[in-house]
Amino acid sequence: LGGFRATPAPMKPCRVTRAMCDPPADPSRVPWWERGVIYQIYPRSFQDSDGNGVGDLNGIGRRLDYLVELGIDAIWLSPVFPSPMADFGYDVSDYIDIDPLFGSLDDFDRLLAAAHERGLKLMLDFVPNHSSDRHPWFIESRSSRDNPKRDWYIWRDPAPDGGPPNNWISDFGGSSWEWDEATGQFYLHAFLKEQPDLNWRNPEVRAAMMDVLRFWFDRGVDGFRIDVLWHCIKAEGLPDNPVNPDFRPEMGEKLRVLQTHSTHQPECQEMAADFRQLADNYGERLLVGEIVLPLDQLITYYGRERPGVHLPFNFQLVEAPWDAAILRQLIADYEATLPPGGWPNWVIASHDYPRIAAKLGEAQARVAAMLLLTLRGTPTLYQGDELGIGRVDIPPDRVRDPKELREPGIGLSRDPSRTPMAWDGSPHAGFSNADPWLPLHDDWRTRNVAAQEENSGSMLSLYRDLLRLRRSEPALSIGSFQLAGSADYVLAYERRYGESRILIALNLTGTERPISVPPGQLLLSTLGTAPPSGWLRPDEGVILRLGAR
Ligand code: GLC
Repeated sequence: LGGFRATPAPMKPCRVTRAMCDPPADPSRVPWWERGVIYQIYPRSFQDSDGNGVGDLNGIGRRLDYLVELGIDAIWLSPVFPSPMADFGYDVSDYIDIDPLFGSLDDFDRLLAAAHERGLKLMLDFVPNHSSDRHPWFIESRSSRDNPKRDWYIWRDPAPDGGPPNNWISDFGGSSWEWDEATGQFYLHAFLKEQPDLNWRNPEVRAAMMDVLRFWFDRGVDGFRIDVLWHCIKAEGLPDNPVNPDFRPEMGEKLRVLQTHSTHQPECQEMAADFRQLADNYGERLLVGEIVLPLDQLITYYGRERPGVHLPFNFQLVEAPWDAAILRQLIADYEATLPPGGWPNWVIASHDYPRIAAKLGEAQARVAAMLLLTLRGTPTLYQGDELGIGRVDIPPDRVRDPKELREPGIGLSRDPSRTPMAWDGSPHAGFSNADPWLPLHDDWRTRNVAAQEENSGSMLSLYRDLLRLRRSEPALSIGSFQLAGSADYVLAYERRYGESRILIALNLTGTERPISVPPGQLLLSTLGTAPPSGWLRPDEGVILRLGAR
């Protein structure tokens, strides 16, 4: 059994951020999004208020006090704009309105005001890469080759053999090109054919989309999560993508080629910088970019010559094996690679990825919660993870995710992560008074908010305790970060702010592990009680105070 020494090695030379090098004397002067915790709401599945089995804005409004009690700072809503729902809102047919399924603009304004009254920030989901094929822009664009909006989307003649213009593959499988009989050309879609890609090289498109951001900023939204930012601009000439030499069919068809020319062009960062410039005109508004790229490419979205998004989403914990040595290296590399002034962020799950408790089991999901909420950087929680919702089997006749419907049976389905919140033990778990659009998790009668609120050992209580501790300890929210020890099974690190030193030690295994730490006061254990001296119990994470406050 390998133990570790938590005696800190010398601090890394300080190169990262103000908070790391020279924490401000007054933590409240740090931007809200550096201190804060983001909570992702998938609106279809949070709370239904009108009895149609689909969540809505008024439903969210009813649950704001729950979110305050939970202890988060900002809500990010997955898209609520008018949409034919081919990709459940990520196919927008009007960027400046609310889909009647979710409510109205008035409902939105009320929700925003109610959130702000409670000190919560509210962020929307901006979907710039593609619109719906029912968006009036696309309807015009496809109406004729000489329509003024033709060039708002990406239209090309067939290849000489009559097939698609190049070999690009949609992220949902199949060619990225759809033939339009009426005008005799193909249009590009990185996702569904119902989601045609906008042409961001056209200044009119850029101007129209900047107006969309202004519309919502003027209404008071606190920021945006920007959907598939790295997809938005394609290489000039649209060359074929290289074939992926490591492709195996079970990976999903999108990986048949490497997305070298269809994504991550330098102009994507220019777009981010333009968005940032606009956001900065409105004061402290947050831009989070959805970017799924290797670290060296990801960090370019913080900006080069000009600032880019505040937080390029960091999905590394979602992808990485649950292994202390690997996570340790990943965290060290991330911290070391951040550009000066770049604030870190961490994600463990979302509406696109498997639930953390499905992936790790409940006991390690508790350890993961502790990790997420004690690393240096802004955490994003995904709704329902605070209940430990685990694996959900979706019966074949209830599958809704277009990704699963197009490439069934290879584990791509996102439905299991999108099932409704369970609020209590009443019919349909208090989510709705009708049958929900996706089934609830099997154990919803016991795994729901009301039941877990009563139980100090529940996942919900752990999340609340973690969030409360994080809020009361600047060391945990904005303090410096340093890895401790070197054990294979235990991930340990120290956070410091002023005189305060807090050690986090996480046993990532189901076997007890020895640890060696200086004497400290236990602030929290994932198992509730203090561990035996010198040991972490199976699946235990602890937070210890080492220094004086
Ligand atoms: C993003 C969204 C995902 C959606 C896709 C296309 O990855 O998170 O849900 O299907 O973009 O918009």
